[in-house]
Amino acid sequence: MKSIKNKIKKLRKNILKYEYSYHTLNKSIVSDAEYDYLFDKLYNLERQNKELITSDSPTQKVGSNLLIQSKKSMHFFPMLSLDNVFDLNGYLNFEKRVKKNLNNMNQSLVFCCELKIDGIAISIIYENGVLSRASTRGDGCYGENITDNARMIKSIPKKLKGSDVPKRLEVRGEIFILKSNFYNLKKTNNFSNPRNAAAGILRKINININDQRNLMFLCHGYGFFDGLEQFTSHYERLMKCKSWGFPVDENTKICLNYKEVFKFYQKIESNRHFLDFHIDGIVIKVDSIEFQNKLGSSSKAPKWAIAFKFQTKEQITILKDVKFQVGRTGIITPVACFEPIIISGVKIQRSSLHNKKEIQRLDLHIGDSILVRRSGDVIPKIISVIASKRLKNSKKILFPHFCPICNSELLENKNDKIIRCHAGLTCDAQKKKALHHFFSKQALNAKNLGYKVINQLIAKKYVENPVDFFNLTRSSLMNVDKLGEKTSVRIIDAIEKCKKTSFKRFVYALGIPCIGETMSKKIAVSFQTIERLMNSNLNELSSINGIGKIVSNNIFNYFSIPSNRKLILNLIKKGIVFRRREDALFKHKNNTFFLGKKIVLTGIFRFYSRTDLKHILTELGAKILNTISKNTDLLIYGKNFGSKFLKAKKMKIKMFNETKLVSLINKSNI
Ligand code: IVH
Repeated sequence: MKSIKNKIKKLRKNILKYEYSYHTLNKSIVSDAEYDYLFDKLYNLERQNKELITSDSPTQKVGSNLLIQSKKSMHFFPMLSLDNVFDLNGYLNFEKRVKKNLNNMNQSLVFCCELKIDGIAISIIYENGVLSRASTRGDGCYGENITDNARMIKSIPKKLKGSDVPKRLEVRGEIFILKSNFYNLKKTNNFSNPRNAAAGILRKINININDQRNLMFLCHGYGFFDGLEQFTSHYERLMKCKSWGFPVDENTKICLNYKEVFKFYQKIESNRHFLDFHIDGIVIKVDSIEFQNKLGSSSKAPKWAIAFKFQTKEQITILKDVKFQVGRTGIITPVACFEPIIISGVKIQRSSLHNKKEIQRLDLHIGDSILVRRSGDVIPKIISVIASKRLKNSKKILFPHFCPICNSELLENKNDKIIRCHAGLTCDAQKKKALHHFFSKQALNAKNLGYKVINQLIAKKYVENPVDFFNLTRSSLMNVDKLGEKTSVRIIDAIEKCKKTSFKRFVYALGIPCIGETMSKKIAVSFQTIERLMNSNLNELSSINGIGKIVSNNIFNYFSIPSNRKLILNLIKKGIVFRRREDALFKHKNNTFFLGKKIVLTGIFRFYSRTDLKHILTELGAKILNTISKNTDLLIYGKNFGSKFLKAKKMKIKMFNETKLVSLINKSNI
């Protein structure tokens, strides 16, 4: 308990220090991601240890502390913050809560959707149409008086226009600086981002009119105004404010259901870079004032509004370990294991470090705080280490000199810099992977022969290489843990069945470095028989379109090793035969819609598994890629599609759904 108490104390101290620096000194000393990480950590610790929550904890406050020397103004109504959601599900939960709190009302709710401007919240009071006081949000109850500064901001009306100006009016909104102005300002100032620049300028005591001119204002709310009862909708009230001279963002839109809200979100997210000011999401507000009042607020945020934030692609976490994995072909890949984090809704706890150079670049130590990003929205990558957070005496990560599995010396290839264990099938890690690869779905496709069974067969020393599988008997299989008679028979059947395969599958199954499915297909088409392939020379190999120097060398080297040649001959002796039909299939598929197209898949498909679909499309001449880029020709999406969909839309990449896919595949007459 004492250590939890200390952890909480330390977290609070750091968070308060960062908040003070950010809100009061306008200086960001940690990244947003690091701040969010620490805040979440504190929040979760407090949630698990409720008795340790104190009222001065950063988790219990609405916003910033006040600038110490400034004049304070009390807000007539507290200036609240907003709760956040980060994905559609989060938003739908908000809608569900709203409906439930309105006694499960069935009539449709109307929402007002706005931009979430990344600026400084302010309140401005007008008396008889004249600006009388302006203040920042401060701690939500008291703000800093910035009346003189506000008077110099061009987009804040000093005097309201119209014949129906109320006697008293409070409007609320955001002060911010245009990106274009920020970049000019940056040359002479030390502001780290536009938000800090706006806060800094706003708080200047010696007001410089030119500086204040860089500030902009957009109105997104109001505290009170006389005669407000006649306007029963938030949108109407905003429009009324607009008529008195307040700038209201023109993207503000009424949405009638969640689909419209999501469409608004997608549109704003993809166009946000064209705006000349920073936004970090959208804000969705229940439009009816009657419903807003019924829903009320917590001490921190209204229950009738939510911020739907754009997803952060970066997070800070702690490095727990680096594992050196031995791949099927002996390549050693370092993999970082860290405390789980969620980025774009996906839990991540590992990321590849690729090679020795990457480890050197990062200078990783166990226990380091690391910044992780999902690059291209999919693959996690460690961007940097936060060196200031390094623990004393922490262990530095070094690339090993010996294989972590079989202890053979690791060798680095001078050309490609790849470090390998060359022990081949005598290294247990390579043996397991190579045997699994040989019988995998894309290779010989022996059903029921998964990792678990193969590992047990290796452990019992029943199998050393692919040929041994064809000598297995039902009774030997039944010696394996948890394999009953029925399963043993099934496995024997599957091994027997997979003897009838195709040439391209067989080439793929051999596991020659760099020979994937596409390359195997090319090789099978060009050589047609295993004998021709085994006896090919480097010239023949490199003359095949799409086969470069490295690949042809790999093939040639593979067949130069006597044990590999022996293995192939023994497999053929065991009865492996090549069906012509499957090899011929792709030869006359030269004229389809999919030929040569670079395709990305997202979501779940009703009629195909991912592997089958990839297989079929590749058969039809397509190239399946994992990430959307400007080279992608087509995105095919199924149910519950992911962020690739949004990215493709943003990049205006052609896309279609499963129905169209089925019809095109049928036309291809596979
Ligand atoms: S409504 C009581 N609307 O976001 C409702 N706030 O993270 C609270 N913000 O403190 C404000 N754009 O400073 C609202 N369209 C918008 C906004 C917005 C930016 C800021 C505001 C608030 C903060 C909460």
